[in-house]
Amino acid sequence: MRIDAPQSPGQPDGPQRHRTIQDALHRYGFIGLLREALTRIRRKLFDQRSVILFHATPSGVQGRSLPPDFTIRTLPRAEVAGMKNTPFLGILYSALQDGPSTQELHAAIHEGQVVAWGISFVGARDWPIPEVAAKLSLDPEDAVLTSFFTLPEFRGRRLYQGLMVTMAKHVASKGACSIQIWCDEKNLASRSAIERVGFRPIATLRCMVILGRCIRLATRVLTNASTT
Ligand SMILES: CC(C)(COP(=O)(O)OP(=O)(O)OC[C@H]1O[C@@H](n2cnc3c(N)ncnc32)[C@H](O)[C@@H]1OP(=O)(O)O)[C@@H](O)C(=O)NCCC(=O)NCCS
Repeated sequence: MRIDAPQSPGQPDGPQRHRTIQDALHRYGFIGLLREALTRIRRKLFDQRSVILFHATPSGVQGRSLPPDFTIRTLPRAEVAGMKNTPFLGILYSALQDGPSTQELHAAIHEGQVVAWGISFVGARDWPIPEVAAKLSLDPEDAVLTSFFTLPEFRGRRLYQGLMVTMAKHVASKGACSIQIWCDEKNLASRSAIERVGFRPIATLRCMVILGRCIRLATRVLTNASTT
């Protein structure tokens, strides 16, 4: 796996950029939505972003299994398309639309409802990290886990951790020897869950956004992936 040069400026905000107004209203209310919109505009113009990249081998990803009334399964695209107008699940649909067709969507299900999800991908291709205008050059045996989300009322029940553990086994069954995952440096819930299941930080990728132009700062390599 290699971390490559920046992409062209004006990168989109990632898979969640198509979040519907309905999802946002549900999540923030009107005033919250206005505040969120102003924050997003400011962040598009001026921002400092920092993403931590983590690595693990599939067998190194371990943790507790899900609570008994939750299951994890891989959802076919057609099933996700049927959910695209449900609050929050529009995010899931967009995430799947944005990536390559071979990526797979894994969902935690509770009482027949999708309550948390993440995407896995195994294969040799460039994988963008648009938040910091970077891209990973992956080998055929590299996997990425991305686009995780837990519905707010189900957070803190280790669904994210359960998903990562199940997905690590899944990508191993598809031939992956190495797994990459990343999160915003300030996303403490995500970071703590990623480290708890066994991933180790290998690099910090940073960029400055000035008047909407993303300027990539030097990558800080923390550990060599082969030694983690
Ligand atoms: C990040 C997210 C996926 C976590 O989902 P989740 O199902 O609640 O996660 P889990 O319960 O498996 O693990 C969360 C861990 O973070 C901890 N945590 C929660 N809030 C925290 C905070 N503010 N600071 C530090 N740790 C925190 C929890 O205690 C838990 O750790 P523990 O097992 O040691 O107790 C969820 O908050 C989310 O959907 N956020 C919005 C989208 C997002 O940020 N996605 C991740 C992109 S990488």
